[in-house]
Amino acid sequence: MSQFDLEDLPTNLSDNEHFHSIVERVISRRGFLKLGAGASAAAFLGGMLSACGGSSSGSNPASASSLLGFKPVEKYTGDQVVMPEGYSVSVLAPWGTPLFGSTAAYRDDDSNSAADQAEQVGDNHDGMHYFPINGSEEGLLVINHEYHERTMYADREPKTLDDCRKSQHAHGVSVLHIKKNAQDRWEVVVDSRYNRRIHGNTETKLTGPVAGDDLVVTSADPLGKTVLGTLNNCGNGHTLWGTYLTCEENFNQYFGTTSPEAADGNDPRDALLRRYGINRAASGGTYRWERFDDRFDYMKEPNEPNRFGWIVEIDPFDPDSPPLKRTALGRFKHENCAMTLSRDNRVVVYSGDDQAGEYIYKFVSDGYYDPNNPIGNRELLKEGKLYVARFEDRAPRGEGMLGTGRWILLDKNENEHLRQNDHDFPDQAAVLVKTRLAADAVGATPMDRPEWIAVHPKTGEVYCTLTNNKGRTESEVDGVNPRASNIYGHIIRWREAGDDAAALEFEWDLFVLAGNLNVYPPNHPRAGSANVTRDNAFNSPDGLAFDADGRLWIQTDGDDSDAGDFAGQGNNQMLAADPATGEIRRFLYGPKGCEVTGIAWTPDQRTMFVNIQHPGGSWPKSQWPEITGGGARPRSATVVITKDDGGVIGT
Ligand code: FEO
Ligand code: CA
Ligand code: CA
Ligand code: CA
Repeated sequence: MSQFDLEDLPTNLSDNEHFHSIVERVISRRGFLKLGAGASAAAFLGGMLSACGGSSSGSNPASASSLLGFKPVEKYTGDQVVMPEGYSVSVLAPWGTPLFGSTAAYRDDDSNSAADQAEQVGDNHDGMHYFPINGSEEGLLVINHEYHERTMYADREPKTLDDCRKSQHAHGVSVLHIKKNAQDRWEVVVDSRYNRRIHGNTETKLTGPVAGDDLVVTSADPLGKTVLGTLNNCGNGHTLWGTYLTCEENFNQYFGTTSPEAADGNDPRDALLRRYGINRAASGGTYRWERFDDRFDYMKEPNEPNRFGWIVEIDPFDPDSPPLKRTALGRFKHENCAMTLSRDNRVVVYSGDDQAGEYIYKFVSDGYYDPNNPIGNRELLKEGKLYVARFEDRAPRGEGMLGTGRWILLDKNENEHLRQNDHDFPDQAAVLVKTRLAADAVGATPMDRPEWIAVHPKTGEVYCTLTNNKGRTESEVDGVNPRASNIYGHIIRWREAGDDAAALEFEWDLFVLAGNLNVYPPNHPRAGSANVTRDNAFNSPDGLAFDADGRLWIQTDGDDSDAGDFAGQGNNQMLAADPATGEIRRFLYGPKGCEVTGIAWTPDQRTMFVNIQHPGGSWPKSQWPEITGGGARPRSATVVITKDDGGVIGT
C-alpha cells in the first residue's frame, strides 16, 4: 500500500478532523506509533491493528485466554481433518446419504437418479443448526446444501430435464433426525418422520410485502405466492421460536437464456437483472438448466429470478409445513443471518450481501417477541423495517471503537430518495425485490464482501466477516475497509447505540485484519493486525459463530495454495477467538481443496458439528472422506467433533 496524506483520505471518512481524532485515539490507546501529518498508511493501520490487544510486534499475544484451552494445530496441507490433541472427529451424513430405508444407496458414480437425490442428503453442506429433541443426545440437524458437484452426471453438463432435476434436488436443505447410538456415536435415524429434503423443486410460499406482487408473478404462478424451490443455500440462522433460516446466496447463476436475442453479444437484460448478476446468455458454471427447464430462462420467465435471493424460514419439526420466503428481510445474495432482540423485544435480524462492494443490512420486526406466545412469534418475520449500514466519520464515544455508523431505512414512504423515485420504486414491494438498487440510492457503504454475521451472546456486539476484496482500489479505501487489494480479508464488529439492537446508530471497530507474517514484515498492512501471528495465519474469513460461552469461531474459504502471499497458511481452517483479548488460535484444518463452513453445537457444547464443503475443490486428488473405499469421489460431509475427556469444545 502506498503512503497517503491525511488530506487524501477517502470521502467516506473525509472529515479530517474527526478522522485524525480517531487515528490519534487508536494510536494513543495502543502506544504503538506516533502519528503526524503525512503518516504512512502502514503506520495508520499499525495503530488500528493493535485494536484487539496482544503485542504490536506480531508475535503471539502474551496473555493467556480463559476461553481458549486447546493446543493450536500446526500448518497442514494434507487430505484429512486435523484437530488439536485430545479431540476426535468422525464423519456424518455425506452427500448421498439415504434418509429412508426405501431410498437408493449412494453410488460412487453418476448413476443415482433425480428421484434418488430427492431422498438423499444434498451436496456442498454449508450452514447448519442443531434443534434438540432429547437435549444433547438426540435432535434434528438441519443442513444447507449450497450447490452441486460437477461429478454428478457424465460430461458435467445436463443432457436431459432429469439431469437438471438431479442437480436441483442436490440443493436446498436436509432435515436429519440424529441420535447417539449405544457406542455414543451420532447416527441418522433412517425413516424418522422428521427426515426431510427441501430442494430446488419443493413448494415454498412467499410471505410479506412482496407476496402476490406483479414482480413475482409467473406463468406457473399467476398469484405470485408459490415458488418451486430454494437454491444456493449458503449460511443460515435460526429463530428464537425453534425454526431454521436458510439463506439464498448466489441464485443468479442458475438463470440464463437460450434466446437468439442474447446471441452475438446482444444484451437483453434490464437494469435489475444486471444489478443482481443474472447471466446475459448461458447460466453460470455448468448448470444450463435453462436449456430444459423454461423457468430458468429469464427471457421466458422474466420474474422467476425475483423469487430467489430471500431468507427462508423452515419449521424442522413439521415435515408438512411449506418453507416460507420472508420478503420483508430484503432480496440480495444473503450469506447467513443472525437474530437477536431489541430492548423492547422486537426481533432484529442481521444479514450481509456477499459480493465485493455490497452492503450489510438489518431487519427490525414490527411485532414483539413473546416467549409465551409461540404461535404469534411465527409471524414476526412477515412485516418490519429493513435498514442498510452506512459507516461514517463522527468521533466514537465507546471504548475501543474506531468509528460510527447509521442504519438507513429502506422504506418507500419514509426515505426521500425512494419516495421521489416512483419509476424504480412504485411501492415497498419494489424496494424489497430491488433491495440492492434501493441501497445504492440511499448511500450505503460498499464493503469487502460481507459473509457471516454473529451476535455475541453476552455483550450483544455484532461481528461480521469481510472475506476479501482484491478489487478495492486506493481511492476506495475507507476506515472500515482499510486496505486496497484486500487479499486476506478482515472481521469488523459494531456496538449498537444504547446496546439496543434496534438503534439507528452504532459504533464500529476492527477485530482482526487477516495477514501473513510469513510473507510480509510486521508493520506492513498485509502482516495483519497484532492478533495475527505466524501460527494462526489465515485468509478469507467466512463462517462465523459464537458458542454459548462467547468463543468466536472463524471458518475460512480462501486460497489454500500455501504458496506466494498465502505461504504458511495451509488448507482452509477453523480458528477460535476470545473477543475480550483478541487472541485467535487455530483449532482445525480441513482436507485439501475444501472450505470449512457451517457450525452447530449440542446444548451441552460437548458435540460440535462442522461442515467440510467441496473437499478436493482445488485439488483433484482428494478422496476425503474415503468411506466408500479406494477411488472414491470426494464428498462434502458433516464432521462430528468431540473432546476425548468429554469436555466442552474449545476449553
Ligand atoms: Fe456461500 Fe459467500 O459463501
Ligand atoms: Ca460462505
Ligand atoms: Ca466465501
Ligand atoms: Ca462455498
